Amino acid sequence: MNDALDVEQLRSETPGCADGMHFNHSGASLPSRSTLAAIWDYLRKEATEGPMEAANGASTLLEEVRADTAALIGAKPNEIAFLGSGSTAWGAAFSALPSLVAGDRILVGRQEWGGNLATMQDAAARAGARVETIPVRDDGSIDAGGLASMIDERVRLVSLTWLPANGGLINDAAAVGRVTKAAGIPYFIDAGQALGQIPIDVASLGCDVLKAAGRKFLRGPRGTAILYIRQEFMPRLTPRYLDVLSGPIVDGVVKIRNDARRFEAGEISPALIFGLGIATRQARTLGIAVIRKRINTLANGLRDNLRSIPNVMVRDLGTELSGIVSFTVESIPATEVRAALAGRQIAIGANGVPYTPLDMVARGLDQIARASVSYLNTLSEIARLSEAVADIARRA
Ligand SMILES: Cc1ncc(COP(=O)(O)O)c(C=O)c1O
Repeated sequence: MNDALDVEQLRSETPGCADGMHFNHSGASLPSRSTLAAIWDYLRKEATEGPMEAANGASTLLEEVRADTAALIGAKPNEIAFLGSGSTAWGAAFSALPSLVAGDRILVGRQEWGGNLATMQDAAARAGARVETIPVRDDGSIDAGGLASMIDERVRLVSLTWLPANGGLINDAAAVGRVTKAAGIPYFIDAGQALGQIPIDVASLGCDVLKAAGRKFLRGPRGTAILYIRQEFMPRLTPRYLDVLSGPIVDGVVKIRNDARRFEAGEISPALIFGLGIATRQARTLGIAVIRKRINTLANGLRDNLRSIPNVMVRDLGTELSGIVSFTVESIPATEVRAALAGRQIAIGANGVPYTPLDMVARGLDQIARASVSYLNTLSEIARLSEAVADIARRA
């Protein structure tokens, strides 16, 4: 076990660890007491001073959070915008690309997040363009070589969900980046399940756009997301709408900001962003490599346990695995497994087809149970979850 983290201390600073067991960090994790305090303190300040008046002193702190989140992914502060959700962030960047025309192609990974896919499919259908799936390797991960052979002058975008929502796969996002860079094609990464869980370095990934919500493995508040736009890529994205901060009218002319804040609403919630800032600093202090190592040990232990249970099948694809452990129980739908575990105060997720339609359909799955592990989880929780699943599976 990795001893570099004082897990008991970290758990004692997390109110949610006191009640039940949380294995839904890929849905939304548990914030720390200091993250909550940052939010409450600022809301109190707004309530006493007046929200607009409190904001006068908030901009320096907001820029500190921007610098910290940028540092977490190897970006520059001016390449980061704060938005309200992962999907909003992704949609803001996608809709800012030049309009598709008939015959255009968009290439996506097989585990593309359903919301991104819906946005692309809808835009493609209206334009007479196509969304095509990049082939996978034998282990189910993206085949960068297969992608290279699909590239032609009609490809307008490559989009990859790096760590899918429906299992432990970690796609080789950097290999995809090498292909897109060589071809000069825009490359978007959905890093929703990566942020706070595995190291992220946008330069080595070779992406133009990357986004992630703050509430998952990073343990930030709901209602926060970061959108990274590579500085040199910025001029190729024209926001679909502006506000008085992202594109003020100066002397009768619209001046769109030349940093990522061209996508940020002036009316963001400083309280939530400050909470995100605390979560980010906490993750950086603990060290993402240390976090990753502990998650890996715990998740692999859980996989081993589940594999030994009759009627339970671990469904994770790939070779390099994340903290998302997906499984099915023979003849019991995942939603029922989730409900049975919830009855024992154990929270897990259950995904249907809409989260990852291409992958679920390709694998003939209609539901998947998803136990996602954080560094906050313990070996004894892993044992108790495994026993509970074994008990449920006995009824199968
Ligand atoms: C990989 C991935 N992308 C996108 C999303 C959606 O993010 P949001 O709910 O913040 O819009 C999720 C949510 O679980 C996800 O797992």
